[in-house]
Amino acid sequence: MQSLFQQAKNCFLTADPEQKIEKTFELTSSWQAGNLSWDKNESIELFDEPGRLPKPEIVMPKELGKRKPGSEKGRATLIHALAHIELTAVNLAWDAIVRYRDMPKEFYDDWTQCAKEEATHFSMLRTRLQEMGYDYGSFPVHNELWKMAIETKDAMSDRMAVVHRVFEARALDVVPGTIKRFDNIGDHFMVKTLNLICDEEVGHVSSAAHWFRYRCHQQQKDPDAEFFQLLKRYMRSPPRGPFNHVVRLQAGFSQNELDFLDKNSPNKNWEVKSPLPLGKG
Ligand SMILES: [Fe+2]
Ligand SMILES: [Fe+2]
Repeated sequence: MQSLFQQAKNCFLTADPEQKIEKTFELTSSWQAGNLSWDKNESIELFDEPGRLPKPEIVMPKELGKRKPGSEKGRATLIHALAHIELTAVNLAWDAIVRYRDMPKEFYDDWTQCAKEEATHFSMLRTRLQEMGYDYGSFPVHNELWKMAIETKDAMSDRMAVVHRVFEARALDVVPGTIKRFDNIGDHFMVKTLNLICDEEVGHVSSAAHWFRYRCHQQQKDPDAEFFQLLKRYMRSPPRGPFNHVVRLQAGFSQNELDFLDKNSPNKNWEVKSPLPLGKG
């Protein structure tokens, strides 16, 4: 029987995105069919950096310049940036599986399913890029999400709290606006893709909330207090609102956490009123 952990490492280290996506689908199916072992004590070498091709070029965020949202190229740059986040999210899911080995089976159920969904998101965005005459790798990207993944790697709860409940959760606030932009120009494929992404990200952020609280409970820590402390430890500035309360509550945020985020947000007075168009993909 093949090992989930070995195969997850293999996916993580695969550089070609096409192959990474293919292996991700295969691996999630094998896991869900019960065809993989998961021995906590199996020795697996850990790597900090996933496999990557030379393109896209990784640059500092400030080197990326401003996108021109009105132009076709501006839209392609935006889709490319989203595709990069999705591919990074595939790597994050496999990394969590390989790195955090003391977890119950449900943890691996959640993150294999997440890897598959992120792989689907990436593929859909890449298809759109190719239709527009570009591809993944056509533009430079920044890598702040992965940097935070490495900073939080030593504690599963830090990874869940900061990478998934801050960085990934940001999508819950901003993607509805992006959907509107594509709707305005009649890009139905992007509207469908982004609706699916929105819908499934709620599940990923919920899983992160669940496993974050699982560890807090094991360590007899108050999860809200722990979340606030981790934000202060890892974030140079507080997460920026406005926060989509309706969807964040669905994704496992407590009202107390939302109040804390609102209170500390640099633009706290702006409130998202309408819920996400969930399930309309
Ligand atoms: Fe995603
Ligand atoms: Fe996600």
